Amino acid sequence: MLKERRKYIGVFDSGFGGINILRGIVKELPNYNYIYLGDTARTPYGTRSKEVVYDFAKQAVDFLFAKNCGLVIFACNTASSDALRKIQQEYLPKRYPGQKVLGVLVPAAEEASAKTHTQRIGVAATEGTVQSGAFIRELKKINPRTKIFQNACPLLVPIIEEGEQDSEAARLILKKYLAPLIKKRIDTLILGCTHYGIMERQIKAIISKEIAIISEARVVPKKLRDYLKKHPEVEQGISRHGTIKFYTTDLTEKFTKLGSKFFGKKIDAQKIILS
Ligand code: DGL
Repeated sequence: MLKERRKYIGVFDSGFGGINILRGIVKELPNYNYIYLGDTARTPYGTRSKEVVYDFAKQAVDFLFAKNCGLVIFACNTASSDALRKIQQEYLPKRYPGQKVLGVLVPAAEEASAKTHTQRIGVAATEGTVQSGAFIRELKKINPRTKIFQNACPLLVPIIEEGEQDSEAARLILKKYLAPLIKKRIDTLILGCTHYGIMERQIKAIISKEIAIISEARVVPKKLRDYLKKHPEVEQGISRHGTIKFYTTDLTEKFTKLGSKFFGKKIDAQKIILS
């Protein structure tokens, strides 16, 4: 078999949501080659233990480096919370010295810190991300005086995946999730889950105009551009043919349908097994 020569930027998520982030990245940086990996067979990650998420994340890293990725991005907030740090500190130095894996949490935290005037930041995320305290850790690192208010929104992922985001039930659930954050007089809200950007319009209709929304699908592509500029040794290794390949651990009609919706155009995916 011919060895793959092209080098890719790998984008990994627990399922479909990261396709929304990939879409933003491709819009900002259309020339690079990309590989998307969605672990749809084992999604959601948001309700799993950190040990299990770490194991899954390691398998994703193995797959993407085997596919010749020169840089991997965890588009999944849950995987970016605890697993990413362990991957960066323990797994990469041992297995892939010199290789880089980045996440979505730090870019979102940096943007939120730059936007807030009152240092009162809200985070809407999955149970796993909230419990990890990773957003608190990253935001406090930037400014220890920041007050962070988190709320887990476990019903939003299934609502979005069922295409129910415009329903009255979704509006009521969203209102319930956002109320405690609004009550804390936040001036910035991080949408700390891959899917939530899809509901930005509905979120805007509930919160005050004064609250800045941090959407990872907007922030991550810009931060990636900055990163590649600052790291020519990584940037020069990525091929530029504008190729995009999609891999999934469970190829269902739903993946192609939702994936195409999240990506904004039809996608073709290949099924693979992670182990
Ligand atoms: N991709 C996950 C995240 O951003 C949401 C879906 C899941 O729970 O797996 O946290």
